[in-house]
Amino acid sequence: MRDLEGKTAVITGSASGMGLAFAECFGNAGMNVVMADVEEKALRVAASRVEAAGASVLPVVTDVSDEASMDHLGEAVQEAFGTPHLICLNAGVAAPTGPMESLTTNDWKWTLGVNLWGVIHGIRVFLPALRERDEGHFVVTASVAGLTSYPWLGPYNASKHGATTIAETLHAELAELGSRVRVSCLCPGAVATNIGEAERNRPKELENETVVEMDAGDLSEFANTFSGFAKPPSAVAEMVLAAVVEDRFWIETDEVYRDAIRSRHRAIEGQDEPPARGIILNPYLER
Ligand SMILES: NC(=O)c1ccc[n+]([C@@H]2O[C@H](COP(=O)([O-])OP(=O)(O)OC[C@H]3O[C@@H](n4cnc5c(N)ncnc54)[C@H](O)[C@@H]3O)[C@@H](O)[C@H]2O)c1
Repeated sequence: MRDLEGKTAVITGSASGMGLAFAECFGNAGMNVVMADVEEKALRVAASRVEAAGASVLPVVTDVSDEASMDHLGEAVQEAFGTPHLICLNAGVAAPTGPMESLTTNDWKWTLGVNLWGVIHGIRVFLPALRERDEGHFVVTASVAGLTSYPWLGPYNASKHGATTIAETLHAELAELGSRVRVSCLCPGAVATNIGEAERNRPKELENETVVEMDAGDLSEFANTFSGFAKPPSAVAEMVLAAVVEDRFWIETDEVYRDAIRSRHRAIEGQDEPPARGIILNPYLER
């Protein structure tokens, strides 16, 4: 989609992190911006910031895991700006990491609800109108976790593999149908956002009865390592903008994961043992 001026972008999870950076970036490119997020106060602050920079902004409090809430988002967008052009299905959370034996049903439900069902609802709500106009672009925020299978991230990996294959499948279907609607799959490595505090948005009914505290030393070591490599969200937003304009499917933010992805694919082809070991930051540490 070469010409963005005056068109409309819908971004889920845009009160913080990458979603907020997308809103600022697309607003600067002259787009109307619909900012959807479950965190009401943060959304208000973020929307004022994007509006102050000159964009036309519609904030819509939305829970992407909820069918009716996503229907409402679709209606609010139509009413304000008509059929939108760029749909960024970006909202995401990360449940505590740990071996699967330590995880609860609530950890799985929460992570899959936001990261996977958020994408499913987003496509269900927006695809028909984009198809009818035969123009538009979906950007699905997956992760390098959607291309690898590092341990201790069961629900997150499952949700992001799901997001990746949904993006690929949608892309393939649209090509078969001869549609001009496009798809990109964003697979970031480490990005400096608030995902480390994702628990702030866990709904009450999906909280765990007993909270398993992670070792504080391990946590702070992980956080330090992570922040040492993390890209600024604004840099990712520029990559997304370029991919939309140039119509590219894969948006990779960190080449450092190429070997890990390649070795997974080789293992599948050769029927070898899955290669991922250690933690997801290993490709940075092993450089
Ligand atoms: N930060 C990273 O290193 C990284 C790496 C790869 C992929 N990602 C993905 O990027 C996306 C954006 O996350 P981020 O890193 O910017 O984190 P973030 O926490 O800064 O932003 C995520 C946003 O999603 C919102 N959100 C959470 N639950 C929601 C719900 N039910 N409905 C609507 N909004 C909801 C939050 O309020 C928040 O504003 C996520 O899909 C995440 O999995 C992040």
